[in-house]
Amino acid sequence: MELLKARNLNKIYPGKIAYKALTNIDLLIEKGEFVGIMGPSGSGKTTLLNMVSTIDRPTSGELRIGGQDPYELKGEKLAHFRRRELGFVFQSFNLLDTLTVKENIMLPMTLDGIPLGEMKLRTNRLAEKLGIAHILNNRTYEISGGQAQRTAIARALIHEPKLLLADEPTGNLDSKSARDVMELMSTLNQTEQTTMMLVTHDAMAASYCHRVVFIKDGQFYSEIHCGDNRAAFYQKIINVLALLGGNENEFSPVRV
Ligand SMILES: Nc1ncnc2c1ncn2[C@@H]1O[C@H](COP(=O)(O)OP(=O)(O)OP(=O)(O)O)[C@@H](O)[C@H]1O
Ligand SMILES: [Mg+2]
Repeated sequence: MELLKARNLNKIYPGKIAYKALTNIDLLIEKGEFVGIMGPSGSGKTTLLNMVSTIDRPTSGELRIGGQDPYELKGEKLAHFRRRELGFVFQSFNLLDTLTVKENIMLPMTLDGIPLGEMKLRTNRLAEKLGIAHILNNRTYEISGGQAQRTAIARALIHEPKLLLADEPTGNLDSKSARDVMELMSTLNQTEQTTMMLVTHDAMAASYCHRVVFIKDGQFYSEIHCGDNRAAFYQKIINVLALLGGNENEFSPVRV
């Protein structure tokens, strides 16, 4: 069953000089799939993610998430769709530092009026899985970057969204924390069957995906599948990145 269907997506940023950021992008993502999006800086990765996450409307093309065209929804219905069906994780963890870890995780549920008992149950269960149960009462400035990102992932998953969208979730993490976060995302993808779309510069992070789609200058470039050997997949990703060219410095330091 396909969870995400994008056909012929185009995005033109208007302005004095209009800029075509995406050209005829087709993307199908099956339910339960974990898909990486890679490409040089400025190739349109965040633009694509913003179309899918309903933050920014495509100039033309078709988009469906779970059969629904989110752009047909208006106002409150769109906000509800976004909150219920989608989960977001960003490079900068976007936690509220006046709140504790627990309160950050519970925030989306508070907005939806879920009973306190249920909120606590879900929070504890997820915190256990993510290895942050012992810091639930800490403030966000009292935790590490890796813990902050795991908190953000818990907050994104607390609603059991159909689709988790992540833009450079390991971008601010050291290699050990980055690896931990990717291991966790991979485990959650398997155990919760959450479909995931990950934008990253990092070949190590991308190697946890089932499939990586490469874009260049706003257009589809190529796609590779993981198979059963992650180390070999990592090498394949590196090879495509080399072919893609661009400035080497555009890619984060290589981590194996
Ligand atoms: N709001 C905007 N208005 C005009 N142009 C934009 C806007 N956002 C992005 N662009 C342009 O569209 C292109 C794609 O940008 P995008 O942010 O999608 O790239 P990216 O692949 O995510 O890059 P990076 O790896 O650096 O994050 C870039 O050339 C960028 O300058
Ligand atoms: Mg980007």
